[in-house]
Amino acid sequence: MDMQNIQRLMEDYLSHNYRRGSFPEKLLAALLESWARERDRAHELELLGDMVLKNGALIQQLVEMNHLKNKFLGTAAHDLRNPLISIRGLSEIILTEATGPLTQEQKEYINIINTVSSGMLKLVGELLDISVIESGRLELQRQPGALDRLVSERIRVHTVIAEEKRIVMEEDLSELPDCSFDLDKIGRVIDNLLSNAIKFSPPGSRVSVLLRQEENMARVTVGDEGPGIPMEDRSRIFGEFQKSAALPTGGEKSTGLGLAIAKKIVEAHGGDLMVESREPSGSLFSFTLPIGRGNDGH
Ligand SMILES: Nc1ncnc2c1ncn2[C@@H]1O[C@H](COP(=O)(O)OP(=O)(O)OP(=O)(O)O)[C@@H](O)[C@H]1O
Ligand SMILES: [Mg+2]
Repeated sequence: MDMQNIQRLMEDYLSHNYRRGSFPEKLLAALLESWARERDRAHELELLGDMVLKNGALIQQLVEMNHLKNKFLGTAAHDLRNPLISIRGLSEIILTEATGPLTQEQKEYINIINTVSSGMLKLVGELLDISVIESGRLELQRQPGALDRLVSERIRVHTVIAEEKRIVMEEDLSELPDCSFDLDKIGRVIDNLLSNAIKFSPPGSRVSVLLRQEENMARVTVGDEGPGIPMEDRSRIFGEFQKSAALPTGGEKSTGLGLAIAKKIVEAHGGDLMVESREPSGSLFSFTLPIGRGNDGH
Protein backbone atom coordinates (compact mmCIF):
# COMPACT_ATOMS: atom_id res chain seq x y z
CA MET A 1 0.00 0.00 0.00
CA ASP A 2 1.41 3.37 -0.93
CA MET A 3 1.71 6.47 1.24
CA GLN A 4 -1.35 8.11 -0.34
CA ASN A 5 -3.60 5.21 0.67
CA ILE A 6 -2.17 5.18 4.20
CA GLN A 7 -2.81 8.92 4.46
CA ARG A 8 -6.43 8.39 3.29
CA LEU A 9 -6.93 5.62 5.90
CA MET A 10 -5.59 7.89 8.61
CA GLU A 11 -7.85 10.73 7.56
CA ASP A 12 -10.85 8.33 7.54
CA TYR A 13 -9.99 7.15 11.01
CA LEU A 14 -9.48 10.63 12.40
CA SER A 15 -12.70 11.91 10.85
CA HIS A 16 -14.59 9.11 12.77
CA ASN A 17 -15.41 7.04 9.71
CA TYR A 18 -14.28 4.17 11.88
CA ARG A 19 -16.57 3.35 14.74
CA ARG A 20 -15.09 4.85 17.92
CA GLY A 21 -13.40 2.11 19.88
CA SER A 22 -13.12 -0.24 16.92
CA PHE A 23 -9.70 -1.38 16.06
CA PRO A 24 -8.29 0.26 12.86
CA GLU A 25 -6.98 -3.03 11.47
CA LYS A 26 -6.70 -1.87 7.91
CA LEU A 27 -4.72 1.19 8.91
CA LEU A 28 -2.48 -0.77 11.22
CA ALA A 29 -1.82 -3.43 8.58
CA ALA A 30 -0.99 -0.74 6.06
CA LEU A 31 1.32 0.99 8.50
CA LEU A 32 3.06 -2.28 9.39
CA GLU A 33 3.44 -3.11 5.73
CA SER A 34 4.88 0.32 5.04
CA TRP A 35 7.27 0.13 8.00
CA ALA A 36 8.46 -3.30 6.85
CA ARG A 37 9.08 -1.88 3.42
CA GLU A 38 10.96 1.08 4.89
CA ARG A 39 13.02 -1.26 7.07
CA ASP A 40 13.88 -3.39 4.01
CA ARG A 41 14.86 -0.26 2.11
CA ALA A 42 16.95 0.96 5.04
CA HIS A 43 18.65 -2.44 5.10
CA GLU A 44 19.27 -2.24 1.36
CA LEU A 45 20.63 1.28 1.76
CA GLU A 46 22.87 0.10 4.56
CA LEU A 47 24.23 -2.68 2.31
CA LEU A 48 24.64 -0.17 -0.52
CA GLY A 49 26.45 2.18 1.84
CA ASP A 50 28.81 -0.62 2.85
CA MET A 51 29.45 -1.44 -0.81
CA VAL A 52 30.14 2.21 -1.66
CA LEU A 53 32.53 2.45 1.28
CA LYS A 54 34.34 -0.75 0.30
CA ASN A 55 34.48 0.24 -3.40
CA GLY A 56 35.52 3.74 -2.40
CA ALA A 57 38.49 2.28 -0.53
CA LEU A 58 39.28 0.06 -3.52
CA ILE A 59 39.05 3.00 -5.93
CA GLN A 60 41.30 5.05 -3.66
CA GLN A 61 43.79 2.17 -3.57
CA LEU A 62 43.72 1.89 -7.38
CA VAL A 63 44.21 5.65 -7.78
CA GLU A 64 47.22 5.48 -5.44
CA MET A 65 48.67 2.49 -7.31
CA ASN A 66 48.19 4.27 -10.64
CA HIS A 67 49.91 7.32 -9.20
CA LEU A 68 52.81 5.13 -8.05
CA LYS A 69 53.00 3.47 -11.48
CA ASN A 70 53.22 6.88 -13.17
CA LYS A 71 55.90 7.99 -10.76
CA PHE A 72 57.89 4.80 -11.35
CA LEU A 73 57.44 5.04 -15.12
CA GLY A 74 58.47 8.69 -15.13
CA THR A 75 61.54 8.14 -12.92
CA ALA A 76 62.72 5.02 -14.77
CA ALA A 77 62.24 6.65 -18.18
CA HIS A 78 64.00 9.80 -17.00
CA ASP A 79 66.97 7.86 -15.58
CA LEU A 80 67.31 5.78 -18.75
CA ARG A 81 67.31 8.82 -21.03
CA ASN A 82 70.75 10.23 -20.31
CA PRO A 83 72.73 6.98 -20.63
CA LEU A 84 70.86 6.25 -23.86
CA ILE A 85 71.66 9.70 -25.23
CA SER A 86 75.36 9.02 -24.45
CA ILE A 87 75.28 5.58 -26.10
CA ARG A 88 73.65 6.95 -29.23
CA GLY A 89 75.89 10.04 -29.37
CA LEU A 90 79.12 8.07 -28.83
CA SER A 91 78.17 5.44 -31.40
CA GLU A 92 77.62 8.27 -33.91
CA ILE A 93 81.09 9.68 -33.18
CA ILE A 94 82.72 6.25 -33.51
CA LEU A 95 80.91 5.74 -36.84
CA THR A 96 82.49 8.91 -38.26
CA GLU A 97 85.85 7.17 -37.57
CA ALA A 98 87.06 10.27 -35.71
CA THR A 99 88.35 7.91 -33.03
CA GLY A 100 90.14 5.62 -35.48
CA PRO A 101 89.40 3.49 -38.54
CA LEU A 102 86.78 0.73 -38.26
CA THR A 103 86.60 -2.66 -39.88
CA GLN A 104 83.43 -3.49 -41.83
CA GLU A 105 82.30 -5.77 -39.01
CA GLN A 106 82.87 -3.07 -36.36
CA LYS A 107 80.88 -0.59 -38.47
CA GLU A 108 77.96 -3.03 -38.67
CA TYR A 109 77.97 -3.60 -34.90
CA ILE A 110 78.22 0.10 -34.06
CA ASN A 111 75.41 0.77 -36.54
CA ILE A 112 73.24 -1.73 -34.69
CA ILE A 113 74.08 -0.06 -31.35
CA ASN A 114 73.13 3.28 -32.89
CA THR A 115 69.80 2.06 -34.31
CA VAL A 116 68.81 0.16 -31.17
CA SER A 117 69.66 3.07 -28.84
CA SER A 118 67.66 5.45 -31.07
CA GLY A 119 64.66 3.10 -30.84
CA MET A 120 65.03 2.85 -27.07
CA LEU A 121 65.27 6.63 -26.76
CA LYS A 122 62.02 6.98 -28.69
CA LEU A 123 60.31 4.47 -26.39
CA VAL A 124 61.69 6.15 -23.26
CA GLY A 125 60.47 9.50 -24.63
CA GLU A 126 56.97 8.07 -25.14
CA LEU A 127 56.93 6.55 -21.63
CA LEU A 128 57.92 9.93 -20.23
CA ASP A 129 55.14 11.59 -22.23
CA ILE A 130 52.58 9.08 -20.95
CA SER A 131 53.71 9.54 -17.35
CA VAL A 132 53.53 13.34 -17.68
CA ILE A 133 50.10 13.21 -19.34
CA GLU A 134 48.67 10.67 -16.86
CA SER A 135 49.79 12.68 -13.87
CA GLY A 136 48.01 15.73 -15.32
CA ARG A 137 51.27 17.64 -15.77
CA LEU A 138 50.98 18.16 -19.54
CA GLU A 139 51.97 21.78 -20.08
CA LEU A 140 51.58 23.49 -23.42
CA GLN A 141 53.98 26.16 -24.65
CA ARG A 142 51.49 27.77 -26.98
CA GLN A 143 52.53 30.32 -29.55
CA PRO A 144 50.73 31.72 -32.57
CA GLY A 145 52.04 29.94 -35.63
CA ALA A 146 51.32 28.79 -39.16
CA LEU A 147 50.09 25.21 -39.12
CA ASP A 148 50.64 24.85 -42.90
CA ARG A 149 54.35 25.59 -42.45
CA LEU A 150 54.71 23.01 -39.69
CA VAL A 151 52.79 20.34 -41.65
CA SER A 152 54.88 21.05 -44.73
CA GLU A 153 58.15 20.77 -42.74
CA ARG A 154 57.15 17.45 -41.20
CA ILE A 155 56.13 16.09 -44.64
CA ARG A 156 59.64 16.94 -45.96
CA VAL A 157 61.24 14.91 -43.17
CA HIS A 158 58.97 11.92 -43.75
CA THR A 159 59.33 12.00 -47.54
CA VAL A 160 62.89 10.70 -47.10
CA ILE A 161 61.62 7.75 -45.02
CA ALA A 162 58.71 7.14 -47.43
CA GLU A 163 61.04 7.00 -50.42
CA GLU A 164 62.76 3.95 -48.96
CA LYS A 165 59.42 2.13 -49.32
CA ARG A 166 58.63 3.79 -52.67
CA ILE A 167 55.67 5.48 -50.98
CA VAL A 168 54.65 8.73 -52.64
CA MET A 169 53.72 11.63 -50.35
CA GLU A 170 51.07 14.00 -51.71
CA GLU A 171 50.07 17.26 -50.06
CA ASP A 172 47.29 19.77 -50.46
CA LEU A 173 47.67 22.43 -47.78
CA SER A 174 45.45 25.52 -47.59
CA GLU A 175 46.96 28.66 -46.14
CA LEU A 176 45.16 29.32 -42.88
CA PRO A 177 45.04 32.11 -40.33
CA ASP A 178 47.48 31.49 -37.45
CA CYS A 179 46.59 28.90 -34.81
CA SER A 180 47.88 28.97 -31.26
CA PHE A 181 49.70 25.72 -30.53
CA ASP A 182 52.70 24.06 -28.93
CA LEU A 183 55.02 23.66 -31.91
CA ASP A 184 56.99 20.72 -30.52
CA LYS A 185 53.95 18.75 -29.34
CA ILE A 186 51.79 19.30 -32.44
CA GLY A 187 54.90 18.41 -34.46
CA ARG A 188 54.93 15.07 -32.64
CA VAL A 189 51.23 14.51 -33.40
CA ILE A 190 51.85 15.09 -37.12
CA ASP A 191 54.98 12.89 -36.99
CA ASN A 192 53.03 10.01 -35.50
CA LEU A 193 50.24 10.22 -38.09
CA LEU A 194 52.74 10.43 -40.95
CA SER A 195 54.97 7.69 -39.57
CA ASN A 196 51.94 5.42 -39.03
CA ALA A 197 50.70 6.00 -42.57
CA ILE A 198 54.15 5.07 -43.95
CA LYS A 199 54.76 2.27 -41.45
CA PHE A 200 51.54 0.35 -42.12
CA SER A 201 51.28 0.96 -45.89
CA PRO A 202 52.50 -1.35 -48.65
CA PRO A 203 55.47 -0.26 -50.76
CA GLY A 204 54.46 1.63 -53.86
CA SER A 205 51.31 3.15 -52.32
CA ARG A 206 50.38 6.80 -51.72
CA VAL A 207 50.03 8.85 -48.55
CA SER A 208 48.11 12.09 -48.83
CA VAL A 209 48.03 15.03 -46.43
CA LEU A 210 45.29 17.63 -46.50
CA LEU A 211 44.99 20.86 -44.50
CA ARG A 212 41.68 22.68 -44.53
CA GLN A 213 39.76 25.27 -42.54
CA GLU A 214 36.38 24.11 -41.18
CA GLU A 215 34.61 27.10 -39.64
CA ASN A 216 36.83 28.13 -36.73
CA MET A 217 38.92 24.94 -36.77
CA ALA A 218 41.87 23.77 -38.82
CA ARG A 219 41.79 20.12 -39.86
CA VAL A 220 44.84 18.08 -40.83
CA THR A 221 43.98 14.77 -42.55
CA VAL A 222 46.43 11.98 -43.32
CA GLY A 223 45.16 9.31 -45.71
CA ASP A 224 46.85 6.11 -46.80
CA GLU A 225 46.18 3.06 -48.94
CA GLY A 226 47.13 0.51 -46.27
CA PRO A 227 44.89 -2.11 -44.62
CA GLY A 228 42.80 0.45 -42.67
CA ILE A 229 41.47 0.03 -39.13
CA PRO A 230 38.70 -2.54 -38.51
CA MET A 231 35.55 -0.97 -37.04
CA GLU A 232 35.94 -2.80 -33.70
CA ASP A 233 39.46 -1.36 -33.19
CA ARG A 234 38.65 2.26 -33.98
CA SER A 235 38.25 3.54 -30.44
CA ARG A 236 40.67 1.05 -28.83
CA ILE A 237 43.74 2.21 -30.79
CA PHE A 238 43.68 5.54 -28.96
CA GLY A 239 44.44 3.73 -25.69
CA GLU A 240 47.96 3.11 -24.36
CA PHE A 241 49.86 0.10 -25.78
CA GLN A 242 46.94 -0.71 -28.08
CA LYS A 243 47.54 -2.10 -31.54
CA SER A 244 45.26 -3.10 -34.38
CA ALA A 245 45.64 -5.94 -36.88
CA ALA A 246 48.00 -4.01 -39.19
CA LEU A 247 51.68 -4.89 -38.92
CA PRO A 248 54.55 -2.64 -40.01
CA THR A 249 55.37 -3.38 -43.65
CA GLY A 250 59.08 -2.54 -43.41
CA GLY A 251 60.14 -4.04 -40.08
CA GLU A 252 59.56 -0.75 -38.20
CA LYS A 253 58.97 -0.68 -34.43
CA SER A 254 55.40 -0.60 -33.11
CA THR A 255 54.74 0.15 -29.46
CA GLY A 256 51.15 1.31 -29.56
CA LEU A 257 51.74 4.55 -27.65
CA GLY A 258 51.83 7.18 -30.41
CA LEU A 259 48.09 7.66 -30.92
CA ALA A 260 47.37 7.70 -27.16
CA ILE A 261 49.86 10.53 -26.69
CA ALA A 262 48.70 12.34 -29.83
CA LYS A 263 45.04 12.27 -28.73
CA LYS A 264 45.84 13.74 -25.32
CA ILE A 265 47.99 16.49 -26.88
CA VAL A 266 45.30 17.43 -29.41
CA GLU A 267 42.56 17.42 -26.75
CA ALA A 268 44.67 19.63 -24.48
CA HIS A 269 44.68 22.14 -27.36
CA GLY A 270 40.86 22.04 -27.57
CA GLY A 271 40.83 19.88 -30.70
CA ASP A 272 40.08 16.25 -31.50
CA LEU A 273 41.82 13.30 -33.16
CA MET A 274 39.78 10.72 -35.04
CA VAL A 275 39.92 7.91 -37.57
CA GLU A 276 37.65 7.01 -40.46
CA SER A 277 37.82 4.24 -43.01
CA ARG A 278 38.74 5.04 -46.55
CA GLU A 279 37.08 3.64 -49.65
CA PRO A 280 38.01 1.16 -51.10
CA SER A 281 40.78 0.61 -48.52
CA GLY A 282 43.13 2.49 -46.23
CA SER A 283 42.61 4.78 -43.30
CA LEU A 284 42.03 8.48 -42.79
CA PHE A 285 43.33 9.96 -39.55
CA SER A 286 42.57 13.59 -38.86
CA PHE A 287 42.92 16.09 -36.07
CA THR A 288 41.50 19.53 -35.51
CA LEU A 289 42.92 22.62 -33.82
CA PRO A 290 41.09 25.82 -33.00
CA ILE A 291 42.06 28.76 -35.18
CA GLY A 292 43.06 31.81 -33.18
CA ARG A 293 43.67 31.69 -29.45
CA GLY A 294 42.06 28.29 -28.83
CA ASN A 295 39.10 27.18 -26.74
CA ASP A 296 40.66 26.73 -23.35
CA GLY A 297 42.05 30.22 -23.00
CA HIS A 298 45.70 29.15 -22.56
N1 LIG B 1 47.62 4.32 -40.82
C1 LIG B 1 47.39 3.16 -40.21
N2 LIG B 1 47.01 2.06 -40.89
C2 LIG B 1 46.76 0.87 -40.27
N3 LIG B 1 46.86 0.69 -38.94
C3 LIG B 1 47.23 1.76 -38.19
C4 LIG B 1 47.50 3.04 -38.77
N4 LIG B 1 47.83 3.90 -37.77
C5 LIG B 1 47.75 3.19 -36.62
N5 LIG B 1 47.40 1.93 -36.87
C6 LIG B 1 47.18 0.85 -35.87
O1 LIG B 1 46.99 1.47 -34.62
C7 LIG B 1 47.97 1.03 -33.68
C8 LIG B 1 48.33 2.14 -32.72
O2 LIG B 1 49.05 3.18 -33.37
P1 LIG B 1 50.11 3.99 -32.53
O3 LIG B 1 50.62 5.10 -33.37
O4 LIG B 1 49.48 4.33 -31.22
O5 LIG B 1 51.24 2.93 -32.19
P2 LIG B 1 52.44 2.37 -33.05
O6 LIG B 1 52.61 3.17 -34.30
O7 LIG B 1 52.23 0.90 -33.17
O8 LIG B 1 53.70 2.63 -32.08
P3 LIG B 1 54.34 4.05 -31.69
O9 LIG B 1 53.54 5.12 -32.36
O10 LIG B 1 54.22 4.08 -30.20
O11 LIG B 1 55.73 3.98 -32.19
C9 LIG B 1 49.13 0.55 -34.53
O12 LIG B 1 49.91 -0.43 -33.86
C10 LIG B 1 48.41 -0.05 -35.74
O13 LIG B 1 47.97 -1.36 -35.46
MG1 LIG C 1 52.65 5.32 -34.20
